Amino acid sequence: MTIRFDYTNMLAVENGITEDELKARFPRAKTALMSLRAKRDQIRWRDLPYNQDEVVKKILEVAEDVRKRAESFVVLGIGGSALGPIAVQQALNHPRYNELPREKRNGPKLYVEDNVDPERMAALMDVIDPETTVFNVITKSGSTSETMAQLLIVTRMLVDLYGKEHLKDRLIATTDKEKGNLVGIAKEYGLTTFVVPDGVGGRFSELCPVGLLPAAVCGIDVVAMLKGAAEMDALSDSEHIADNPALMYALLETIAMEKGANIGVLMPYADSLKYFADWYAQLWAESLGKKKDGKRFGQTPVKALGVTDQHSQVQLYTDGPFDKTVTFLGVDEYRTTFNIPHAFDENPNVAFLSGHTLNELIQAERRATEHAVTVSGHMNKTIMLPEVNANTIGQLIMFFELATAYAGELLAINAYDQPGVEEGKNMTYALLGKKGYEAKLSEMKENTDRKVI
Ligand code: PA5
Repeated sequence: MTIRFDYTNMLAVENGITEDELKARFPRAKTALMSLRAKRDQIRWRDLPYNQDEVVKKILEVAEDVRKRAESFVVLGIGGSALGPIAVQQALNHPRYNELPREKRNGPKLYVEDNVDPERMAALMDVIDPETTVFNVITKSGSTSETMAQLLIVTRMLVDLYGKEHLKDRLIATTDKEKGNLVGIAKEYGLTTFVVPDGVGGRFSELCPVGLLPAAVCGIDVVAMLKGAAEMDALSDSEHIADNPALMYALLETIAMEKGANIGVLMPYADSLKYFADWYAQLWAESLGKKKDGKRFGQTPVKALGVTDQHSQVQLYTDGPFDKTVTFLGVDEYRTTFNIPHAFDENPNVAFLSGHTLNELIQAERRATEHAVTVSGHMNKTIMLPEVNANTIGQLIMFFELATAYAGELLAINAYDQPGVEEGKNMTYALLGKKGYEAKLSEMKENTDRKVI
């Protein structure tokens, strides 16, 4: 079951890319392929489907233990340390997983706490029982203020309740192997620890313990995910450019950017993939939004959900400016079929729906929207998943990671740093009085001439 990438409508629209424009870029695409291959030692996220046998063994053991004793599993993390676990859980487990009774769930309830809104933290404390909760603090850098603040709150609570020596039964750490504050804390308290390997940046980390542990705890087949990722890695390493899905995605999207499409909409037609669009948005935005040699790069990712956002945004995608591409994410076979029954047969304006299924309706709406966007002249493309399962989700993760990496090569920018994010992190340290950031604070004081009405 391989996912399919249909890019017909990137070319066959009034405002699209011509065959000549595309072919002319193939040599550049070949160079991008080669330079990404040459970086293999640095981009270690690409090795994750192949080099984690031991890690997966440990993940499965720990997950099994957590499943036996925990009612809730709480991830403390943000950005790349949270969006993947949320996306995979939503894609592969029951849409209302936490609301199911325990015997119908594959594991404990999952909460991914990727904000420091005090109301949200208080709400979490209202619904979990510390006695039956295991926490997983995930931070590659071991210094992110949001995650460390959460860790302080949780540690204080657990130490007060159960004593320092029992923290290790309730807290698991996922972090860099030697850098950052969490390494020392984990050692001191004897925490079970998983490593975010070198060369695996936050937003490229879903296929390492960052994503695999929460998934395994909730009963997701992580081995199948890695297998799917390996399949996509092989396909997207093809030197035959036109057959290389991730490279073609990157190539088309970067040509579209040259033509002024500085917005990229990702529109899944499945609630299960709704948060996948969030994960993708971070990957695409943080990797490609860069400044280099006085030029600015990037494409603003927009998340939309089919069919919901047909009634919100599609008007803009059809009659609005030619500043965007739309990528539809479709599913051939939904995991359930829902019939639309007969009830108002006397009213033909409603009765035409009866006898169909919701499956047919959502497919028709996806095709209809694709048609509307196409006839309005907007570039669009479709990625079809034969079914949403662990294998196809693994494929999709690797597809977008490689597409992002190839886009970075095509734009000749560094897709793996995030100086803008670091700037915000550093200013937060300064504002909260972290030692060594005093000078930073004065930068902000100089800019307090606000125009406020
Ligand atoms: O992609 C990235 O590197 C970032 O989005 C990080 O994942 C995010 O800032 C959290 O960082 P950390 O995992 O170090 O706490």
